Amino acid sequence: MQSSTVPLFPEQASSFALQVDLLYLFLTAVSAFFTILVSGIIIFFAIKYRRRSDAERPPMTVANLLLEITWIVVPLAISFVMFIWGAAIFFKMASPPKEAMDIYVTGKQWMWKIQHVNGHREINELHVPLGKPVRLTMTSEDVLHSFYIPAFRIKADVIPGSYSKMWFQATKPGKYHLFCAEYCGTKHSGMIGSVIVMEQSEYDAWLGNTKDSSLAEAGQKLFKTMGCVNCHSAQSDIKGPNLEGIYGKQVRLQDGNTLIADERYLRESLLVPNAKLTEGFPANMPAYQGLITEEQILQLISYMRTLTPVVTSNTPSKASTPVTQATPKPEATPAPKPPANSATTESKPSGSTPKSEPAK
Ligand code: CUA
Repeated sequence: MQSSTVPLFPEQASSFALQVDLLYLFLTAVSAFFTILVSGIIIFFAIKYRRRSDAERPPMTVANLLLEITWIVVPLAISFVMFIWGAAIFFKMASPPKEAMDIYVTGKQWMWKIQHVNGHREINELHVPLGKPVRLTMTSEDVLHSFYIPAFRIKADVIPGSYSKMWFQATKPGKYHLFCAEYCGTKHSGMIGSVIVMEQSEYDAWLGNTKDSSLAEAGQKLFKTMGCVNCHSAQSDIKGPNLEGIYGKQVRLQDGNTLIADERYLRESLLVPNAKLTEGFPANMPAYQGLITEEQILQLISYMRTLTPVVTSNTPSKASTPVTQATPKPEATPAPKPPANSATTESKPSGSTPKSEPAK
């Protein structure tokens, strides 16, 4: 598709590019074929069956069942091909692979702020490694924007108050355009940047060159300075849900519903804690709406994602998540703790250290 003579398409630089282009060409070809066919027949019939004298009356015509079935079935079949083909690509684009690396994007009038997991930040530039799936989690600080990388054939709205996701796998090193594709104010047209695809080794060198603390570390600091640790550590789960292993876990709510604690839910619970209360906990958390930036929220969520529960032998290992000790922890916990991931199903008594009472 990308040709040096007629630059009809942007470069194909992601694993989606060819698939999207083929589908696009198919749709264009079908449209062109039927446009030409129908207009050709109209012109042909208009000439062939024109009225030749004022006295002429059209002959009696009988419906042709076979013809009618044909022009119902053929377009139906073609529409189904379009639907199934399109849906297949859509589902692929909507389901990032598990091993995808995370990059966080915040849109703002009029710039793109990017945070890498190790804390590296950049503005209007996105560096990614070649051949590795990358998942973008995106939000906006103000109005609607749209993150668009034509060479990757991906685009998604970036919405204030919500997270949108998108993923890609770059297939060609180089520098590509990055656009905002949603009118967002006077300098919308200036909200552009570039995506730089590098070889893995080059990327590692580039990424390693940072003095910023990682997202999770920054989140851990916030977790302490904002006082979250007072109510949300394993020791104090009488006050607030214990957050160890919270990410991706099923949470039972006050109203009996359940949901999966994803980025969206964690974000909402930070800003408007009473919107969806965890079962068994009172509505006593302050709302952080307006007190915390989108980037800080992403840092806190990154930190929460590192809080893997410590699973002991008496815990039925229902969750098939890899059992690893949390890397950054609020406090050093030398002794193994009782299953700490049960805050939502059964509340633990306070001071839940598994010490047996020494005989007095
Ligand atoms: Cu942001 Cu247009």
